[in-house]
Amino acid sequence: MQRVEVQLGQRSYPIDIDTGFAALPASLASARQVVIISNPTVAPLYLDQVSALFSAPPLHILINDGEAFKTLASFETILSFLLENSMSRDVVLVALGGGVIGDLTGFVAACYQRGVRFLQIPTTLLSQVDSSVGGKTAVNHPLGKNMIGAFKQPEQVIISTATLTTLPSREFAAGMAEVVKYALLGDAAFLDWLLKHSEQICQQQPETLAQMIRHCCQMKADIVSRDETEQGERALLNLGHTFGHAIEAFMGYGNWLHGEAVAVGMVMAAELSAHRGWLSKQDVASVRRILQSFGLPVAVPDQMQIANFMPFMKTDKKVKDGQMRFVLLSAIGQASLVADVTEAELLQVFG
Ligand code: NAD
Ligand code: GLY
Repeated sequence: MQRVEVQLGQRSYPIDIDTGFAALPASLASARQVVIISNPTVAPLYLDQVSALFSAPPLHILINDGEAFKTLASFETILSFLLENSMSRDVVLVALGGGVIGDLTGFVAACYQRGVRFLQIPTTLLSQVDSSVGGKTAVNHPLGKNMIGAFKQPEQVIISTATLTTLPSREFAAGMAEVVKYALLGDAAFLDWLLKHSEQICQQQPETLAQMIRHCCQMKADIVSRDETEQGERALLNLGHTFGHAIEAFMGYGNWLHGEAVAVGMVMAAELSAHRGWLSKQDVASVRRILQSFGLPVAVPDQMQIANFMPFMKTDKKVKDGQMRFVLLSAIGQASLVADVTEAELLQVFG
């Protein structure tokens, strides 16, 4: 087993990465009330194994599968289930699934009786390298992605790389977008490593995957430890997300996977960076190439013009004092938050 620590004082927690589900500490395993939140795709695969981690048999509730169900309605369904089953403030919630289940469960954990403990057991590559770590929780609103949420750190993150064996290849590729994101925003050497190991990654060689996941979790843990609530540096983790969230919302939640939209968003961020002279054309081409090598899209959906992005980008959570802010690349492996991108510049680059 490999362990990465998220250092947040009293709210610090471990991320355990193993080939199976690592054992829980007694304080969690012996919880009197446990509710596992999952969906009808993941539960038949892993609910029994995860239930067995607890000494008392947990209850469970399944939410319909998909981004379209990361909503206030699902949030309310879970709250009602907890109340109907007389769950107290001691309850431990367990998110068993991908980022949708993780974000939704975390938001319930932040709100139920003003906050209860929760565990992240991420089962997609994307959730293992990104969404289960760092305490961002949210649901979507028709007018914007992740617009309603809270910061709520889990007690522990338990990653079993064996869960990736059942993940559809399109979902695996979507997770690779977030992996490439870490390399582009802060670690050029990791980009070289990814290129060198792309065959083993695509073949899902277990040791290579564990090493890659650990590296991403360590990068995220370090950033979150320095800037938990995104006052500065953490915003860099949104590379590609301003454009990407607009694609997800415009195309209808669930039609484009989050990782696919982020992949195109990163290409757009690279193009904007090149327009400013920070990246070369070759750099942009290599961003495209690495994303394509992992089976990801790199072109804006045919249905979208830059005008379609604008309403979503203007309500992005990075907007400050009415000004849109973008994460751009000052070099491959070096990102920065930029506050002077105008609509005119966007039109010039993408119009
Ligand atoms: P997802 O949760 O929709 O999971 C993708 C699909 O894979 C679903 O159909 C799911 O049922 C299925 N699945 C999950 N595990 C499986 C397994 N082991 N085997 C077979 N099928 C499996 O999508 P995702 O990509 O995991 O997460 C995307 C979400 O994460 C988005 O809502 C995004 O906004 C959010 N996100 C949050 C953060 C954060 O910091 N909180 C960061 C990045 C992304
Ligand atoms: N995925 C962006 C963040 O956690 O900050």
